[in-house]
Amino acid sequence: MEADRVRWDKRFDERPLTQPSVPAFFVEQSVSLPWGRALDVASGDGAVALWFARQGYDVTAMDISSVALSRLQGFADQEKLLINCKNIDLDDRSALETGLTETYELICLAHFKPSQELLEFLGSCLAPGGQLLLSTFNLQHHQHNGFSKRFCLTPGEFQSSVDGLHCVHYQSVRRGDSFMDDYRWQCSS
Ligand SMILES: C[S@@+](CC[C@H](N)C(=O)[O-])C[C@H]1O[C@@H](n2cnc3c(N)ncnc32)[C@H](O)[C@@H]1O
Repeated sequence: MEADRVRWDKRFDERPLTQPSVPAFFVEQSVSLPWGRALDVASGDGAVALWFARQGYDVTAMDISSVALSRLQGFADQEKLLINCKNIDLDDRSALETGLTETYELICLAHFKPSQELLEFLGSCLAPGGQLLLSTFNLQHHQHNGFSKRFCLTPGEFQSSVDGLHCVHYQSVRRGDSFMDDYRWQCSS
């Protein structure tokens, strides 16, 4: 949606030009992840994408905000990392289908609550044996920090009901002041 694009562009424009840190969950899980192409969905300025590119993955980052992606590209250039950036609105299904023509061994979402429909679409973009990782705020984050409830996962929200994906890991965890739900799915085909 255009309003999201404008809001996020403004937020990234106002942010100091410092590199984002990778969320802990992706580092914790990294030892046993499939290798190859990685897609960072709602990548922002690259917290996840930059980290996987450093590990040698072939990374694509996707976000609605061109300002976020240009920050990401700048950070990647500083380290001579190659990251393919796609400026796509996740709510626009036809743009998604046109923009995502490859399959990926790894798909990541951090600090973004996907719809069930989006998760199932992303599941269909996994290569055989591919995995999808999600780490984002849960309802406790709303209760403790006043973070908007509509962006928070309810307990076990996606544990059993995502077509095409088999949940192999789920946990609710507190990291500092953040209350997170972490998921890891395996492609079931
Ligand atoms: C809280 S930030 C998280 C960024 C990054 N994943 C991280 O962990 O630092 C949420 C991101 O979702 C992106 N976003 C919000 N709505 C979107 C949409 N409809 N399509 C694509 N990206 C969207 C925003 O531009 C922003 O970069």
